[in-house]
Amino acid sequence: MEFSFLPRSERWRVMRRAAHESLSEAAIKDYSKVLIEETRLLVEGLLDCPDITLSRHVHRVAASIAWRCLFGQQAILLHGSDPTHRIEELAGEMTRAMLPGGSLVDICPILKPVIQQFPFLRRHADRWFEELSSCFQNAYSDEETSGHTSASGILKTMELSSLDPLSGAWMMGSLFFAAEDTTACALLWFFCAMLLYPETASAARQQLAQVVADRPPSFADYHSLPQIEAMEFEYSGYVIPKGAIILANIYAIARDPELYTNGDRFDPSRFIDENGHIKQPKRDSKDDYLCFGHGRRICLGKDFATNSLWITFAYLLWAFDFRKPVGPDGEEEVAPAELGFHDKGVTVEPVPFSIRVVPRFPDLVDRLNGPRAEE
Ligand code: HEM
Repeated sequence: MEFSFLPRSERWRVMRRAAHESLSEAAIKDYSKVLIEETRLLVEGLLDCPDITLSRHVHRVAASIAWRCLFGQQAILLHGSDPTHRIEELAGEMTRAMLPGGSLVDICPILKPVIQQFPFLRRHADRWFEELSSCFQNAYSDEETSGHTSASGILKTMELSSLDPLSGAWMMGSLFFAAEDTTACALLWFFCAMLLYPETASAARQQLAQVVADRPPSFADYHSLPQIEAMEFEYSGYVIPKGAIILANIYAIARDPELYTNGDRFDPSRFIDENGHIKQPKRDSKDDYLCFGHGRRICLGKDFATNSLWITFAYLLWAFDFRKPVGPDGEEEVAPAELGFHDKGVTVEPVPFSIRVVPRFPDLVDRLNGPRAEE
């Protein structure tokens, strides 16, 4: 049922086509309203609740974007109940089982047919599947008509006879798995880079000052802010997808000295040409957004993810200065030369760290919601 793990088959092709349509360019335009609302909620949340961990803020916004755009559900709020919490717990079980040695079958493959044959041996996996199916089916069938387009809504209008409601619900669930953790991970590395490489934030802000000045950024500014787009290219070096299914070693490609000098450095300027525009990718390097994979299994959410990260980076850089936390003596703590990371199986997150966000405008909230903010 989990679409990303299906081998190439007719079923995979049907699902890939369905997912592709529900994340098409036209559909993605309709999701912009939600992306902007969610980015505002993130900025307000960081402002109002500095005691809540950065990881919580970031996972909330990533889950809420996916929940709303994929299932057409209501926003997940910092202080409200989180219907995706259980889904994430169950996803964690799946990721742990996928890791090499995570399942008994990895150590002793001949046990696989035996386990498949006896329900009492598979009861844990069966319960897992039933619980997750019911979470996805409830969300899928109960799609809210909150006035915005959702991928579930689009999928239901397609004529795909082989996709029954359970498969449709799992299709959206698979997209949710693929979207939430990767987006949260990218945002955490963004904050981390802003602490360690403040000069890159300054370069992006100079452009923001010229293009948007004191109003919030909007998607109409996309091509006038190449510094922010270059940040999206650059962060890609930090995500390491892995699993039983073979994935390109993006971590190593992003550090190939023939393609990139100083591959370990966060340096968006490597993607900007002498005229300040985004450089054309080098021939055969496929280095345009290489973090999304290549070929037939290339990430289906690439355009959705780049839109969502772009607007979030743009808002955060416009709204805040990023500072190191203050120590007990009232002095700013020194940022470590490098932050450690935590391997979550499919993604690699920075270890928890603190950051202070300082508003760049005294009336930030008014500006966020004022008449010059994009609807
Ligand atoms: C920063 C965010 C993201 C990153 C870095 C990322 C990265 C990737 C990578 C590396 C792959 C494997 C490609 C391959 O096998 O060559 C993949 C697959 C996939 N991604 Fe993403 N992804 C992101 C966000 C999203 C979002 C937001 C969605 C959906 C809304 C999504 C949906 C998928 C799906 C469905 C697949 C499986 C495609 C298939 O097997 O045919 N991803 N992603």
